[in-house]
Amino acid sequence: MFLRLALSVLPLVGTALAQAGGPYTDPDNGINFFGYTELAHGVTYGYVFPPLVSTGSNSTEFIGEIVAPIAAKWAGVSPGGQMLHNLLLVAWPNGNSIVSSARYATDYVQPTAMTGPVLTTLPSSKVNSTHWKWVYRCQNCVTWSTADGAQSLPIGDFGVPAWAYSSVAVDTPSNPQSTFLEHTDFGFFGLDFSTAHVSAALYNNWAAGGTSGGGGSTGPTTTSTSTAPVGTPTPFDYIVVGGGPGGIIAADRLSEAGKSVVLVERGGPSTGQTGGTYQPAWAKGTNLTKFDIPGLFETMFSDSNPFWWCKDVNVFAGCLLGGGTAINGALYWYPPDSDFQTTAGWPASWGWHQPYTDKMKARLPSTDHPSTDGKRYLEQAADVASQLLNGQGYRQLTINDNPNQKDHVYGYSAYDFLNGKRGGPVATYFQTAKVRKNFVYKQYTQVLNVVRNGAQITGVKTNDTANGPGGIIPLNPKGRVILSAGSYGTPRILFRSGIGPSDMLNLVASNPDASPNLPPQAQWINLPVGYNVSDNPSINLVFTHPSIDAYENWAQVWSNPRPADAAQYLKNQSGVLAQASPRLNFWRAYGGSDQKTRWLQGTVRPGAASVTTSFPYNASQIFTITTYLSTGITSRGRIGIDAALTARPLIGPWFQDPIDKAVLIQGINDVISNIKSVPGLTLITPDNTTTITDYVNNYDPGSLNSNHWVGSCIIGTQGKAVVDENTKVFNTNNLFVVDASIIPSLPMGNPHGALMSAAEQAVTKILALTGGP
Ligand SMILES: Cc1cc2nc3c(=O)[nH]c(=O)nc-3n(C[C@H](O)[C@H](O)[C@H](O)COP(=O)(O)OP(=O)(O)OC[C@H]3O[C@@H](n4cnc5c(N)ncnc54)[C@H](O)[C@@H]3O)c2cc1C
Ligand SMILES: *[C@@H]1O[C@H](CO)[C@@H](O)[C@H](O)[C@H]1NC(C)=O
Ligand SMILES: *[C@@H]1O[C@H](CO)[C@@H](O)[C@H](O)[C@H]1NC(C)=O
Ligand SMILES: *[C@@H]1O[C@H](CO)[C@@H](O)[C@H](O)[C@H]1NC(C)=O
Ligand SMILES: *[C@@H]1O[C@H](CO)[C@@H](O)[C@H](O)[C@H]1NC(C)=O
Ligand SMILES: *[C@@H]1O[C@H](CO)[C@@H](O)[C@H](O)[C@H]1NC(C)=O
Ligand SMILES: *[C@@H]1O[C@H](CO)[C@@H](O)[C@H](O)[C@H]1NC(C)=O
Ligand SMILES: *[C@@H]1O[C@H](CO)[C@@H](O)[C@H](O)[C@H]1NC(C)=O
Ligand SMILES: *[C@@H]1O[C@H](CO)[C@@H](O)[C@H](O)[C@H]1NC(C)=O
Repeated sequence: MFLRLALSVLPLVGTALAQAGGPYTDPDNGINFFGYTELAHGVTYGYVFPPLVSTGSNSTEFIGEIVAPIAAKWAGVSPGGQMLHNLLLVAWPNGNSIVSSARYATDYVQPTAMTGPVLTTLPSSKVNSTHWKWVYRCQNCVTWSTADGAQSLPIGDFGVPAWAYSSVAVDTPSNPQSTFLEHTDFGFFGLDFSTAHVSAALYNNWAAGGTSGGGGSTGPTTTSTSTAPVGTPTPFDYIVVGGGPGGIIAADRLSEAGKSVVLVERGGPSTGQTGGTYQPAWAKGTNLTKFDIPGLFETMFSDSNPFWWCKDVNVFAGCLLGGGTAINGALYWYPPDSDFQTTAGWPASWGWHQPYTDKMKARLPSTDHPSTDGKRYLEQAADVASQLLNGQGYRQLTINDNPNQKDHVYGYSAYDFLNGKRGGPVATYFQTAKVRKNFVYKQYTQVLNVVRNGAQITGVKTNDTANGPGGIIPLNPKGRVILSAGSYGTPRILFRSGIGPSDMLNLVASNPDASPNLPPQAQWINLPVGYNVSDNPSINLVFTHPSIDAYENWAQVWSNPRPADAAQYLKNQSGVLAQASPRLNFWRAYGGSDQKTRWLQGTVRPGAASVTTSFPYNASQIFTITTYLSTGITSRGRIGIDAALTARPLIGPWFQDPIDKAVLIQGINDVISNIKSVPGLTLITPDNTTTITDYVNNYDPGSLNSNHWVGSCIIGTQGKAVVDENTKVFNTNNLFVVDASIIPSLPMGNPHGALMSAAEQAVTKILALTGGP
């Protein structure tokens, strides 16, 4: 949920297995740069540093360049790889000259001028008919101070610098401090900064505007592979790739059935129970981490070191144990029967989901009062919203006691928290799997591709040679691989394994890291991987009401929570902080002009991400209703990879069908139709100068994202889908997918409840399928 930050603010973060940069020589100025040409837009980003020294102090400057096609209206870099609390450099052409500035951001908003860095544009900068080039010296740019202390570029180490790109011009090109819209694209590349140094003589010459002197290009750097001897790798009955909800449930049920199972997860621990240690200062001395404390949910999006996001997926995705369920809002809905019907796209054999939903409930019951004292806290927004909804003919119920009732109903938000802490599959299924002798868990291990001989999968290739020669984990003779790497992660593994549409496979073929492991073209398997995706479009409405406690918009909960609330939470996991921000959810069914039924879902919470109004308002009294279009949505998009193998949306799935948009506009108009009947209630975004239709039409498309992606490895029939009714990938013997990517259409609520029921059903079908281990 909470798409509020969406693409626009995806943190620019480091340490990814990003495309690697290497040395090159700029032919115009002869400078030996270390950098990367990003293939989506053809922009080159380069850096070169003075020598590393062993005595005295290291230099605090570097020379850099951005060489961009004219289509780039502005481009920028974060050599440190993050947007927040980092040196940011931006530049654009203005006539025949380059305008540039150093910027700094403490939040995902317009970065402002940064004091400290001294920028000098070097003479080989230029603008010609096809390109612009900014060659610059950046002094006082290696170390800078932040609110949390000094920060430095890793000049002697490996780094993951970020780039940002925009096809939209800045507002005032002549002004170095011009405002501009958020980047339209961004990415990262790996750079071994320890190699990006030249002699003092060369550096000083170039820094003073001189050219040449350096050697020619030495070609791209190669990643060194460990040559350490490895023992005989252990084969497994089942290799499960990805420790999100799909993978954890699959691995638990397979190991319960006595199979030998390895669960391979690219990320590290999350909650304290799994060895996680990342916690706010106020929780020191406890095992309570950011991932345990429900009230810290909103801080997932505002942190200077958000290591939990997958850096090579350009929408939000959790890359740590638990996947999305380690970092999400934990809204948890038992699926209605309609979620698994043929009308929703499921094969007929999936229709009777109840036994699987029951298995899930038995392991992980929901709660709509997560505080351990059973009380509800900070309920003002729920009270105000229910007054509004009562006037529209809604009735209140306990949502998960009545999963099939989803028209004109509202109820308290339900979660999968346990004992006032994040629960989810990590606190339940993972714990039972972990103690079995036939279960192995490998963390910090990334699967690159499956190893296959035509239709037969023999193992998976990982990035860790400690697993065996070439990093390969092998399968037992009748063994099977289950991909559970999520709606973006699983398609990427399939592409890298030669499975998917040829345009994606050709990108893999032209990638120097991935192509050696791609099967020969004769063995490519053409399936619609990445097509058929949907996600809920969602629109935020922001209100004020005098009764609301906006809880400082959740901005204080990490560093400076209300003392009594923090103390209460630490004492026995009760109080405001035992719950994520949502307080109330509602649903209503709508008939569209195409005779199809679509559902509207609403989520109500105190606080608001962004307020756009020309009128004054009281920030202590704001709350948000997020309106989503849910089940029945007809729009579909496409996801895939780019040349750097970053996974990303290729065609946004929101509002492709204008009827989806018309229904959501109708739904929003209904939500606010009786606003005057609730004394003191004011809609501030959009304010009364903007119609709902204009508001929806002008909504930033990236902000429509609800992070509920499904369908990229859709279940169905041969020729149309990616996996069959047993979740086996078509045209393979022993490759399966169990994650959100198989779900054919959006479930009624936030999806992980429906997904976990689907995972229970999938693993039952896989175990029942003959031919396995
Ligand atoms: C910000 C946010 C908020 C959300 N809020 C809610 C909510 O409140 N309620 C709700 O129901 N849903 C919510 N969702 C959606 C929900 O979390 C996802 O639908 C769900 O987690 C999908 O599960 P999955 O198993 O398909 O994949 P994921 O949860 O994405 O798990 C995939 C796992 O695979 C690992 N992995 C990926 N690639 C590899 C690889 N190559 N090798 C090894 N491991 C790999 C990842 O590290 C990750 O652990 C939210 C999602 C986000 C991002
Ligand atoms: C413009 O400059 C770029 C970068 O140096 C160069 O690659 C390109 O060939 C130039 N274009 C023309 C038309 O000279
Ligand atoms: C210079 O930086 C390198 C890399 O960070 C470091 O190893 C070295 O000790 C530094 N030199 C000094 C004198 O601090
Ligand atoms: C933290 O967890 C460890 C390991 O599970 C346990 O031994 C310890 O008692 C816990 N500490 C607290 C303060 O709960
Ligand atoms: C937890 O502590 C709070 C306040 O200190 C108290 O009101 C509440 O009853 C306690 N709850 C439990 C379950 O012990
Ligand atoms: C493999 O990738 C993971 C995730 O990116 C990383 O944490 C780990 O260090 C890598 N392992 C090796 C041996 O490079
Ligand atoms: C803003 O709201 C808070 C909380 O309701 C209230 O205490 C304060 O007086 C309000 N401020 C103004 C200027 O109305
Ligand atoms: C619009 O809202 C503002 C602030 O709430 C109010 O002052 C103004 O009178 C309203 N205008 C109209 C036309 O209703
Ligand atoms: C998925 O998309 C492909 C390509 O658009 C289409 O041919 C196929 O019918 C779709 N599959 C399903 C099950 O809708």
